[in-house]
Amino acid sequence: MNDAPPLLIRHATLPDGRGGIDLLAQAGRVAALGPALPAPPGAVVVDAQGWLLSPPFVDAHFHLDSALSYGLPRVNASGTLLEGIALWGELKPLLTEEALVDRALQYCDWAVARGLLAVRSHVDVCDDRLLAVRALLEVKRRVAPYLDLQLVAFPQDGVLRRPGTLANLQRALDLGVDVVGGIPHFERTAEEGAASVKLLCELAAARGLRVDMHCDESDDPLSRHVETLALHAQRLGLQGRVTGSHLTSMHSMDNYYVSKLIPLIAEAQLQVVANPLINITLQGRHDSYPKRRGMTRVPELLAAGINVGFGHDCVMDPWYALGSADMLEVAAMGLHVAQMTSVAGQRQCFDAVTVNNARILGLEGYGLEPGCRADFMLLQARTPAEAIRLRAQRLLVVRGGTVVSRMAPATAELTLPGRLPQGVDFTRQPSPASGGVAR
Ligand code: FE2
Repeated sequence: MNDAPPLLIRHATLPDGRGGIDLLAQAGRVAALGPALPAPPGAVVVDAQGWLLSPPFVDAHFHLDSALSYGLPRVNASGTLLEGIALWGELKPLLTEEALVDRALQYCDWAVARGLLAVRSHVDVCDDRLLAVRALLEVKRRVAPYLDLQLVAFPQDGVLRRPGTLANLQRALDLGVDVVGGIPHFERTAEEGAASVKLLCELAAARGLRVDMHCDESDDPLSRHVETLALHAQRLGLQGRVTGSHLTSMHSMDNYYVSKLIPLIAEAQLQVVANPLINITLQGRHDSYPKRRGMTRVPELLAAGINVGFGHDCVMDPWYALGSADMLEVAAMGLHVAQMTSVAGQRQCFDAVTVNNARILGLEGYGLEPGCRADFMLLQARTPAEAIRLRAQRLLVVRGGTVVSRMAPATAELTLPGRLPQGVDFTRQPSPASGGVAR
């Protein structure tokens, strides 16, 4: 039951460029979208002043159990993935459920303030106590009114490396974790990696669940588990329900092999998540110069019709010291690393943190069309590309038709000698000197 008053947003611009659009939210859903909508009695009316109205950000790849633990019990000195995994292993015995819940809830507050209303988080199942699983299930329940949290049972240390991990993973699924995870490149051998992919896909198929594996997060061009993932997705009828996360080894692969691999991924309808902030930070660490970027081949995957999303992956944890739940920062890094600087490429980077990720999570009712859930945000930008360029303020964040966060516009007041005081907000305004055209 949603008894919030109707909410009418006036004079918004949509990501597709349509301007002067109103959106009416009623009973938790989008009731109407179009120009000059009539205001129902009792409606709360907000003038969007032409700012960008978008469905919320979605993060398709995150680790909420390690988030905000930076410095515990020490920092990652080498900056590598492997030291991060070792450091997480040192921290795990020291974790308490209370501290896990506390950090995760704080992150979810940051997320909402940034217009990030759906997160797929991996949760480590290697700990026999399943402490993190229990903590994040509790967090999922508590944040449900304002954030969709989808959990992936993730065997961080490999599902086949230690007896008991598979049983832990199954227990996590029994407790309500949504998605089956894996990490084939971290199993002992390539054969065991391939066996883990088969085993975990079969487990997901038997339970009717989606799959999302950390896959080939390596600079080793011979790390080719994604082909096995595509094979089993196809064989088990899991098309569209399997995600390969990272796929960084594809950056270093031979072009001839990739020309075979990408069509296999497309055929199996695998979805792909790149994690630009983390990939550019962790990959290439064993190189001298030139140092490889290490992110997977995003434009080429998109060109083959494959759905590619961008994830944040880490915020202030053993792998990454930075971050603040800002999916526009993620999109900006993806844009730079993949050199997606064309007009179409910039728009694709915005889609990669919104609609593409929503598809990966399988979110119901995502979008601004009538009938969709009334989840959206107002950004202090006129276009998706400008939102990325400015890491635009989230002026308003709405969940189920109710405002859940407001942010002040980013402006500076200039008092320059010899000039009248004026405000600057970094958006490009048309001016007579430029022929009235913003360039
Ligand atoms: Fe990850």
